[in-house]
Amino acid sequence: MTGAKDRVLSGMRPSGKIHLGNFLGALDNWVRMQDAYDCFFFVANWHALTDDQDTSEVPGDTVEMLADWLGAGLDPERATLFIQSLVPEHAELHLLLSMVTPVGWLERVPTYRERIEQQGIASPSYGLFGYPVLQAADILMYKPRWVPVGIDQVPHVELTREVARRFNNTFKPVFPEPEAKLTEIPKVPGTDGRKMSKSYGNAILLSDSAEEIARKVKPMVTDPARKRRSDPGDPAICPVFDLHKIFTPTAEREACATGCRTAGIGCLDCKDVLLKHLQPALAVIRDRRQKFAEKPDVIVQILDEGSRHARRVAEATMAEVRVAVNLTP
Ligand code: TRP
Ligand code: SF4
Repeated sequence: MTGAKDRVLSGMRPSGKIHLGNFLGALDNWVRMQDAYDCFFFVANWHALTDDQDTSEVPGDTVEMLADWLGAGLDPERATLFIQSLVPEHAELHLLLSMVTPVGWLERVPTYRERIEQQGIASPSYGLFGYPVLQAADILMYKPRWVPVGIDQVPHVELTREVARRFNNTFKPVFPEPEAKLTEIPKVPGTDGRKMSKSYGNAILLSDSAEEIARKVKPMVTDPARKRRSDPGDPAICPVFDLHKIFTPTAEREACATGCRTAGIGCLDCKDVLLKHLQPALAVIRDRRQKFAEKPDVIVQILDEGSRHARRVAEATMAEVRVAVNLTP
């Protein structure tokens, strides 16, 4: 290496406000990569269309999600933040990559099968089927070294590598093969003990006020064996304790664990200790996100500028791609 930073690319669908699970699973990791890597992070708004063609919420959700990105510490001075649909070159590359992608590869993608089964989709769209090819275009366009994603997205990155190889062999070697960079995702339970998810209504949002956070944590599910204050509990099976592992310093956490096992403390005492550490961590993000949420025009400007920058990179790649594909006299 010449000292130039490795490039990183990742994206999220615009699902609106971000919860603690999304933050710890992805965003926090993106923030930490900003200095060491040349980072490109984007809003996958075309991918959102594979879920729902009612786009009434997409623009607003994009602004809310960006407020959370910026609140969490993504910095447009250090990372390129952009919108997929503002870089239409992704669509052109998607089309060309689709020509070297066998249908059989797409039929085997686990997220495709899962979505069809879980959402009971009788007649999947061409767009949904091609989702991983669009994702391959998103990635390959920027020739990144790394794609930071959760484990569920690894098959998409693997497919991207195969598509790159196919393109390179069929036409000319344009695309280096990127690699998934697996983020270590802590277990983040929601308030009901299930995995934190907006659709379960058990999520703590980065935008929640201190009062809302307390109101959500106080009735949170604990070890069900602790019915009374005098019953000993087991931190190993308690969702509150999973959050302690993320937010509470070791000594205090161990004191809670001992207090739990001996019925020395009550669950509310234990949750107060958690809140003491959770609240300031979230206050920093909330205050910063609030300043951005009040100025959606600033967010739009950041995305416009980022998208212009992304587009210059995309144009350079497409110039190479068009030569490689060799269609015009
Ligand atoms: N498929 C990703 C998800 O559902 C979003 C995404 C689209 C993405 N394009 C990408 C992630 C490119 C990483 C790189 O989370
Ligand atoms: Fe969970 Fe804490 Fe209650 Fe134990 S004391 S069951 S760790 S909330």
